[in-house]
Amino acid sequence: MKEKRYTFPKDFMWGGATAANQIEGAWNIGGKGMTIEDCLPYREVGVADFTKQFAFSSKDLETALNASPEDNYPKRRGIDFYNHYKEDIRMFAEMGFKVYRMSICWSRIFTNPEDLNPNEEGIAFYEDVFKELKKYNIEPLVTLSHYDPPLDLVLKYRGWYSREAIDLFMKYSKVCFERFGKYVKYWLTFNEVDAMLRHPVTSGGLIEDQFTDVPFEEAIYQAMHHQMIASALAVKLCKEMIPGAQVGCMMTKLCFYPFTCKPEDNLATQQRMRSIYRYVDIQVFGEYPRYLSMEIDKKGYTIKKDAEDDKILKEGTVDFVSFSYYMTSCMAGNTEGLDMAPGNTVNGVKNPYLPSSEWGWQTDPTGLRISLVELYDRYRKPLFIVENGLGARDIVSEDGKVHDPYRIEYLREHVKAMSDAINKDGVDLWGYTWWGCIDLVSESTRQMSKRYGFIYVDMDDYGNGTFNRIKKDSFDYYKQIIESNGEKL
Ligand code: BG6
Repeated sequence: MKEKRYTFPKDFMWGGATAANQIEGAWNIGGKGMTIEDCLPYREVGVADFTKQFAFSSKDLETALNASPEDNYPKRRGIDFYNHYKEDIRMFAEMGFKVYRMSICWSRIFTNPEDLNPNEEGIAFYEDVFKELKKYNIEPLVTLSHYDPPLDLVLKYRGWYSREAIDLFMKYSKVCFERFGKYVKYWLTFNEVDAMLRHPVTSGGLIEDQFTDVPFEEAIYQAMHHQMIASALAVKLCKEMIPGAQVGCMMTKLCFYPFTCKPEDNLATQQRMRSIYRYVDIQVFGEYPRYLSMEIDKKGYTIKKDAEDDKILKEGTVDFVSFSYYMTSCMAGNTEGLDMAPGNTVNGVKNPYLPSSEWGWQTDPTGLRISLVELYDRYRKPLFIVENGLGARDIVSEDGKVHDPYRIEYLREHVKAMSDAINKDGVDLWGYTWWGCIDLVSESTRQMSKRYGFIYVDMDDYGNGTFNRIKKDSFDYYKQIIESNGEKL
């Protein structure tokens, strides 16, 4: 009998992923407080240059707070999942999802982070979402914090720079575990935990011009320390409160290749990768890696730590490692004169052997296999791909359908790479959630036109449209993959 070429474990969790701030909308409805994401304006910048996209000052904040309804703040409307969740979940179920990764918006649970009591309307919304998922036997995988620090945390505490953020976050987490524990077994603490050094506003609520008393980079390391403590405390609390809970960390799995075989290009690559691993190292091993402590010392920075912090980190290590993966690029010891490629919150040297998406991200299925092996060898923990996908400009054809063969191709090749990592390389991979299973507002560009979904949402970058949902060709293709557990590609 012919051996099956691509196979997956029987209980492999196929599904899709989104984040509250990119889909919910209803930014000031149901007792929700404002988040920093509600303050990010739409900017026309062409192909993504993340430094321009993420630039944000106190002046921008002031403008956002005085904005009129005509001003374009795309995260405020999302795709109106708040009012469409039943229809959307029904479509996820039709594709056969086993798991749905979503995030909870802290400001929907506590209108202001300092409030003594949670917002019951916000809790009821998520309960309804979880009940709806249960109806279709879809397992929720929930991120506690996906790039949306509450506005009051930014205004009163300078975001995660203040140690008080830990207690406020723990109060929020406790409510989530108490009220949603009966529905949710799989949890993630912070999305792309390595990202604060690249975009401090959305990850940590840190606005550079608010830090005149301390070097901004030192403030970022301090805020990162607080997130590490909060993450460890949340892992421990979750496992105490929810029997059988599995709690993971979440990293941006950037993957760099040496641009040439010159030793200095190799060294530059290794150092770049370490800078991405350094915080996940803490979440997995329960202590600062020596190279990170040295890096902070050498810069002359002092991170304020409490006496019990080392113990907290040790007691709050994660059960599994999850990550986003979109692309790869290269590193060189000397980048002068080399073409650079934009990417998922980071730039690298352009790889001449790889194709690029319309946004310049270099797509690379083999890089996914390499990443899986690297992560498994480093951490020896089960892995979960919680983001992977292709942002493209889809068009509704005259037949009213959306034909997206490029997305199907991307998906097929990445599924093959996963299967090889599992079956040939011995990686323990729990599941795969395609990013933006339904079109949503892009994190870096805030465009609707950068679409990831299997489901098209009729809305443009300016909020014009019916919000109607249309199945793309990739919808049926993903359904077929799930039905055949990855065999029919
Ligand atoms: C990840 C984020 O970095 O990449 C998501 O966790 C984001 O929130 C995704 O949407 C894709 O990036 P973008 O900028 O195309 O939306």
